[in-house]
Amino acid sequence: MATGRTVMRAVRVFEFGGPEVLKLQSDVSLPVPKANQVLIKVHTCGINPVETYIRSGTHAKKPALPYTPGSDVAGVIEAVGEHVTAFKNGDRVFTLGTISGGYAEYTVASADTVFPLSDKLDFKQGAAVGIPYFTAFHALFQKGDAKAGETVLVHGASGGVGIAACQIARAYGLMVLGTAGTEEGMTLVLKNGAHKVFNHRKEDYLAQIKETAGEQGIDIIIEMLANVNLANDLLLLKKGGRVMIVGCRGSIEINPRDTMMKESSIRGIFLFAASKEELGECAASVLAGVEAGWLKPVIGPEYPMEKVTEAHREIIHSQGALGKMVLLTR
Ligand SMILES: NC(=O)c1ccc[n+]([C@@H]2O[C@H](COP(=O)([O-])OP(=O)(O)OC[C@H]3O[C@@H](n4cnc5c(N)ncnc54)[C@H](OP(=O)(O)O)[C@@H]3O)[C@@H](O)[C@H]2O)c1
Repeated sequence: MATGRTVMRAVRVFEFGGPEVLKLQSDVSLPVPKANQVLIKVHTCGINPVETYIRSGTHAKKPALPYTPGSDVAGVIEAVGEHVTAFKNGDRVFTLGTISGGYAEYTVASADTVFPLSDKLDFKQGAAVGIPYFTAFHALFQKGDAKAGETVLVHGASGGVGIAACQIARAYGLMVLGTAGTEEGMTLVLKNGAHKVFNHRKEDYLAQIKETAGEQGIDIIIEMLANVNLANDLLLLKKGGRVMIVGCRGSIEINPRDTMMKESSIRGIFLFAASKEELGECAASVLAGVEAGWLKPVIGPEYPMEKVTEAHREIIHSQGALGKMVLLTR
C-alpha cells in the first residue's frame, strides 16, 4: 500500500436510523483500488442532504450494511489501479461519487467519476463541486432547457445546490431571482449571482416575486422544497414555464388546472439518473467555470469527523443555510 498504512479513520453505518447510527472508527481497513479505480487521500468531503435520507433507510438507494457515507470528496491521488492513465499519484482531484465512502481518511473511486481539482479552488471548495454543481447544471439546462435571457427563480438559493444554480445561471446569461430564509443567506445569494433575492420565510415574498417578474412570470423554477412550494410555483410561471423539482421532503396538493392555460410543466430531477454523456457535459461546464473564475463554491459550516452526527442533524434542521456544509477528514 502506497500509504504504508493498512487502517484508517472512517465513519461507519451498521444499521439504518437517526444521526446516532454514524460511528467514527479508527480501525477501518484501507480500501485498495482495483482496475480503473483510484485511491484518494481525502481532505474534505461535502455533506449532502441525501446522505441523511440514505442513512435513515428511507431512500430508494439502500447500501449494503455496514457502509461509509459520502460522495463529494476532494483530496490527492494516493495510488492508481490498473489501466488508469488519466491520473497519477499526487494529483489534486474531486469526485462525483466514491465506491468505499467519502467520510473517511482514504476512499476508492472509479476513475471516470474523478476530476482534476484546479489550484484556484481549495480542498473545501473542491468538496462542494460534485453533486451541487452537477445537479444545478443538469436541472437548468439538460432537463430545464434554460436559455440566456430567460428568468429563473432558484427557490432555496442559500445552500449547496442553490448557490451553484445562481452562479451557473448568471454566467449563462439568465435573469436570476433567488430566495433564502435569513438576512445572511440573502446577502450570500446576492453575492453569488442573483440579481434579486427574497426571503421565503416572509409572508409577502411571493407577491414581491410576482411584482419583480411582471405580468409574464417566470420561465424556470429550480425548486429545493417542492412539498412546500409546488402549488405556488405553478402560479409564478409564465406560459410554457417549467418547475424543476430538485428537493422534496413530502407530499403536497396541487391543482393540475394551474398548468393547463400556461401549458407549463413539472419535472423531477435525479442526478444519478443522468446519462454518461450528460455527466460529461456537466463536467465540461463545471471545469470551464472554474477556469473562467465564475464558479466559486461557498463553504458554510465545517465539521471534524468527530462531529458527524451533529452535521447530519443540522443539515436537516438548519437555522439558515450559508453555503455548502463540509466534513474535514484530517
Ligand atoms: N434531485 C437531485 O438529484 C438532488 C441533488 C442534490 C440535492 N438534492 C436535494 O435538493 C435539496 C437542496 O440540496 P442542498 O444541498 O442545496 O441543501 P442545503 O445546502 O441544505 O440547502 C437547503 C436549501 O433549502 C432552502 N429552504 C429552506 N426552506 C425553504 C422553503 N420554504 N422554500 C424554499 N427553499 C427553502 C434553504 O434556505 P434557508 O436555509 O436559507 O432557509 C437552503 O437554501 C435537498 O432536498 C437535497 O436532498 C436533490
